[in-house]
Amino acid sequence: QATSIPADRVPDMEKRKLLNLLLLGALSLPTGYMLVPYATFFVPPGTGGGGGGTPAKDALGNDVVAEEWLKTHGPGDRTLTQGLKGDPTYLVVENDKTLATYGINAVCTHLGCVVPWNKAENKFLCPCHGSQYNAQGRVVRGPAPLSLALAHADIDDTGKVLFVPWVETDFRTGDAPWWS
Ligand code: FES
Repeated sequence: QATSIPADRVPDMEKRKLLNLLLLGALSLPTGYMLVPYATFFVPPGTGGGGGGTPAKDALGNDVVAEEWLKTHGPGDRTLTQGLKGDPTYLVVENDKTLATYGINAVCTHLGCVVPWNKAENKFLCPCHGSQYNAQGRVVRGPAPLSLALAHADIDDTGKVLFVPWVETDFRTGDAPWWS
């Protein structure tokens, strides 16, 4: 009798195990969440996969890790990285210091110059023929006929930034994406 485990300890242990399980479930939930759109986007039906995003690469050719990037790129920052198909693509830091969920393709829709970001004007200004795009890449002055292309900027479960083709409506114009 004296050496047996007090009865009230047993339910305690069970409760703890249950709590641990719940905690684990809660932790793995966000990952599971991210995988669903990922899978539905990148694996076009019937092609047998081969999908996946393209890791954003910095000027040195290294994969961009979101947390590290945000240590050196402040709110409002727009910096070129290498994006889908090797296209120069801006990573955007929002004013709340998070990475925007979209990247902006820097190739001018007029004749293809790479469009620099002008912080003072809060616009992308094309040096070639004067086209202008707002801070989200929407065209605000020609001769460029179209807004800059978008890509999704996702963060994978290792913290790297992945560009994924944007096939949905262009949130800036409400139009179908001209680039996909
Ligand atoms: Fe940009 Fe002509 S290439 S305005």
